[in-house]
Amino acid sequence: MEPASLRDAFPVLDEVAYLNAGTCGPVPAAAAAAVQDTLRIAATDGRWSPYFERMIDLQARQRALYAARIGARPQDVALTTSTSDGIVRVLAGLDLGPEDEIVTSDEEHPGLLGPLAATARRVGLRVRTVPFEAVAEAVTSATALVACSHVSWVGGKVAPAALAEVAASGVPVLLDGAQGAGAIEVDVAALGCAFYAGSGQKWLCGPVGTGFLYVHPDWRERLAAIGPTYMNLEQPSAGLEARPHADARRYDTPALSAEASAHAVAAGEVLVEHGGWDAALRRARDLAERFAAALVQHGREPEPRGPTTLVSWREDDAPGFVRRAAAHRIVIRDLPGRGLVRASIGAWNDERDLDRLLALLA
Ligand SMILES: Cc1ncc(COP(=O)(O)O)c(C=O)c1O
Repeated sequence: MEPASLRDAFPVLDEVAYLNAGTCGPVPAAAAAAVQDTLRIAATDGRWSPYFERMIDLQARQRALYAARIGARPQDVALTTSTSDGIVRVLAGLDLGPEDEIVTSDEEHPGLLGPLAATARRVGLRVRTVPFEAVAEAVTSATALVACSHVSWVGGKVAPAALAEVAASGVPVLLDGAQGAGAIEVDVAALGCAFYAGSGQKWLCGPVGTGFLYVHPDWRERLAAIGPTYMNLEQPSAGLEARPHADARRYDTPALSAEASAHAVAAGEVLVEHGGWDAALRRARDLAERFAAALVQHGREPEPRGPTTLVSWREDDAPGFVRRAAAHRIVIRDLPGRGLVRASIGAWNDERDLDRLLALLA
């Protein structure tokens, strides 16, 4: 791994201690160039067959890239606009009834909680909230779905390994992978999950408006494609007889620009170009671990966490601390209502970024 060369791929890091990939990852210069190039072709040549062929090729590469990051086959991965979009597609597409129960945790993001609440109201089902650590043992015979984070956005804990046994028992598990995909190793087969929703704009450094949804092939017939439109249909010209694609393309978002896919693909290439994906994951995890240890030296108590890329801790005035950091060109965030600030640490960061943040704690 050559951390210096990976870091050099991200112009923002020249000046800014950017520690905010849990919201949006840094944008590589190569991705910005790929977007400009795609837009230039659109502007100068027009948007007709060659532009659409380019778009379709880019989308295939984007799908393959996401699949590789989670150990899946491309045909089991749909292109969405966000983690939340993938979650909505699962909750709307499952055949849920008033007698069903969904188990979730007390550390979930509004991207999951909003769709869960809407589903509960629409269907009349019950959502049961339990501690994050207890989601597996909370399953009962009424549980139709477990829906929780793979990595908690609060402090970076990892979902219990026992969820794989839940999945093996036949209860589908929907993992919100917003803080998992691109941040830690993800192997959907080992997780056993039926569904894994991820973001393109966070740890994969893609554009806002990209993401993916993995659907285990066993669930494809049981998860309705809620709005198969032009791009989701095998033969769009067949009118009312047109059927959705047999594979996960049936769940694709109806519109995804070539510019967005060009950014996503170029970013994905940058992330593996500098020493490989496994080394990048290890580096990010180790840096985060070192930062958590250094926090203790500075009199702060990191929130309970796992071997992930998020580190959170309490500040008396968390929003004020984030503003003070921003004034020093350090980008972190606070978690509203929890009194916590959170640093997101990627393989592109180095000790200088961490030291700048630690200096504010002295
Ligand atoms: C755990 C978790 N879930 C969902 C989301 C929402 O992600 P997206 O904007 O891709 O829907 C976030 C991001 O902020 C998150 O941290």
